[in-house]
Amino acid sequence: RRRIGVLTSGGDAPGMNGAVRAVVRMAIHCDCEAYAIFEGYEGLVNGGNMIRQLHWEDVRGWLSRGGTLIGSARSLAFRERVGRMKAAKNMVLRGIDALVVCGGDGSLTGADVFRAEWPGLLADLIASGELSPEQVEPYKVLNIVGLVGSIDNDMSGTDATIGCYSSLTRICDAVDDVFDTAFSHQRGFVIEVMGRHCGWLALMSAISTGADWMFLPEMPPSDGWEDDMCSVITKNRTERGKRRTIVIVAEGAQDRHLNKVSSSKIKDILTDRLGLDTRVTILGHTQRGGAACAYDRWLSTLQGVEAVRAVLEMSPESPSPVITIRENKIMRTPLMEAVQATKDVTAKIDKKEFDEAMTLRDPEFKE
Ligand code: F6P
Repeated sequence: RRRIGVLTSGGDAPGMNGAVRAVVRMAIHCDCEAYAIFEGYEGLVNGGNMIRQLHWEDVRGWLSRGGTLIGSARSLAFRERVGRMKAAKNMVLRGIDALVVCGGDGSLTGADVFRAEWPGLLADLIASGELSPEQVEPYKVLNIVGLVGSIDNDMSGTDATIGCYSSLTRICDAVDDVFDTAFSHQRGFVIEVMGRHCGWLALMSAISTGADWMFLPEMPPSDGWEDDMCSVITKNRTERGKRRTIVIVAEGAQDRHLNKVSSSKIKDILTDRLGLDTRVTILGHTQRGGAACAYDRWLSTLQGVEAVRAVLEMSPESPSPVITIRENKIMRTPLMEAVQATKDVTAKIDKKEFDEAMTLRDPEFKE
């Protein structure tokens, strides 16, 4: 029976458990055995009981659970070749020659490197006498399939990553809660949201909650942004009668435009220039925890099923795929193409494009 390993890597995301559950059950359905690798690549390197077979009933109730029940870690050991050799040995000894990895672009790139190195790793294990040619023979080819698990929704080639809609839902709920107290005291709130270098969570939560202003990594604040922001907020409070003011700040906007924007600077502007009693709320890791929303439950299930199909169907020559969703269709995309496109998009963003985006942002205000 073919043995398929599954691991979660990088920051946890709601829906990862649904993905593991789907991989385990689809593997069993396809007459394979499923092995969970605990603590991400760390488990692959360390072996022992960090690699365990999972049966159908072992993953019962996992669909809605937040976090990742098989753990995740940032493995330094796996970044070194010697660590990957240990990982290869652990896999061969257990007869695992297929891996489904659920994580962000860094974790998935690591998987692709591992696959490319696989024949060399096996050769070295034979040369060093750690494995015999007979032991290695049945496992000469390693199949890798990626699933994108991240709350940030920061991978090109897919409309959504596993976890992003759960996180967005939690952010919206939190902002709604802040609305109540902001309304009561006619206050301003600067709310900081996650997303690393990507502004998706900030943009979508700002739209979904009707925030007054937002800061994204992809849009550097234009010269005079302080005046722009204050004018819009003043208009919203006076002409439109808003009792509360919400400004959403992507954490990546602060990192990227550090000299211009920070939550405390925005707070000071609202306080000093508009006389608003303003607080800063950093939502932090509440955005990453909690139950998976319906979208992430079905996305992780359909993608987990597709990942097993892909792992069983791929040929040694085919590039490692990542399972994506585009226009509501579950698809396979060459993993490294998606990773490269993600890098290209980030690099392409320049000041001119940002400024154009800024002028398009609020035409009513610009008049
Ligand atoms: O990638 C997910 C994420 O939650 C980002 O949004 C955030 O920048 C980062 O991970 C936080 O990482 P850590 O949990 O290591 O502080």
